[in-house]
Amino acid sequence: MRAIEVTSYGDSEAIEPTERERPEPGAGEVRIAVAAAGINFADIMQRRGHYHGGPAAPFVPGLEVAGTIDAVGDGVGREVGETVVTMVDNGGYAEYALADAAGLLPVPDGLSMAEAAGFPVQFLTARNCLHGWGELSEGESVLIHAAAGGVGTAAVQLAREAGAEIFGTASTAEKLDRAAQLGCDHPINYEEEDFVATVEAETDHGVDLVLDGVGGETTEQSLDALAQFGRMVVYGAASGTPGRLRTDSLLFGNYRIVGYHLGRAIQLRPMEVLGAVPELAEMLAAGDLEVQFDRAFDLANAARAHEYIESRQSIGKVVLTP
Ligand SMILES: NC(=O)c1ccc[n+]([C@@H]2O[C@H](COP(=O)([O-])OP(=O)(O)OC[C@H]3O[C@@H](n4cnc5c(N)ncnc54)[C@H](OP(=O)(O)O)[C@@H]3O)[C@@H](O)[C@H]2O)c1
Repeated sequence: MRAIEVTSYGDSEAIEPTERERPEPGAGEVRIAVAAAGINFADIMQRRGHYHGGPAAPFVPGLEVAGTIDAVGDGVGREVGETVVTMVDNGGYAEYALADAAGLLPVPDGLSMAEAAGFPVQFLTARNCLHGWGELSEGESVLIHAAAGGVGTAAVQLAREAGAEIFGTASTAEKLDRAAQLGCDHPINYEEEDFVATVEAETDHGVDLVLDGVGGETTEQSLDALAQFGRMVVYGAASGTPGRLRTDSLLFGNYRIVGYHLGRAIQLRPMEVLGAVPELAEMLAAGDLEVQFDRAFDLANAARAHEYIESRQSIGKVVLTP
């Protein structure tokens, strides 16, 4: 089968098309004929070798796929031909991928396979960061960084549905327009505007919750935008640098800083993480939420797709199609 391999850690040149044996499902597994593989920022960090606990090179990246069950292993009560979407432990950038049958999710009604491949990682992360870990309540305010990104566009929509006042940051006018269309009340171009000053001017006291997937200076600056007793959920470092915080900055604000990692949380608390799937699928099917699908690249152009995301051109989700 055709697949994409990260041959060694490095830039996008480290990505090469390859041929691999079609994998055979073991007990409890299914093989999926991949219709679309979601690209996540984590794939890029794994390719760079910067992902905590990431795979050793060479490896086939790809953490989520949508497609059709093509073969089932022993003890699996699923049918060949069923369409599914699921998260996988790498291997998604290929014509076929193996998945744990217990983690298969239905394709939400009305979604194309490309849209479905943009649903699990980013919507579950946004949902759990806002509501589970972040404890967002109606009427509270939230600051969402990279608000036009994959997780960001999902978070803006979910915060809108929750009745929150939304501040969102992004680097271009086009991205901010999208965030505003999705329900962001205060779109902030952080290249031109100090987001802390804007939050202060609009709220007097700061926001109740920050979602930070950017890291670096953004994390520390975000504390200055938090209200007393505010919460910050830290779930990524797209800037390439983890944020650093001093404990005295936390105690004077009575702040709570919480970390979130989807993969680890699913392993340890699957019900807590996946419990939101039926509600999310229903909201997507009803059109209350929309996967912000940017574009599909052919599998062979995976390197170009990574470059597109790394150069911050993407708005919402990018997928690969075999
Ligand atoms: N913990 C988890 O379980 C989990 C799950 C999913 C995602 N994540 C993390 O969440 C973050 C967002 O993931 P995503 O897949 O939705 O990506 P994304 O938001 O679609 O893309 C990343 C965005 O980050 C911003 N950014 C800031 N500094 C950047 C830099 N130096 N290089 C590139 N981009 C930069 C860019 O937006 P602007 O141009 O607007 O600044 C860019 O569009 C990533 O850090 C990812 O690793 C974590």
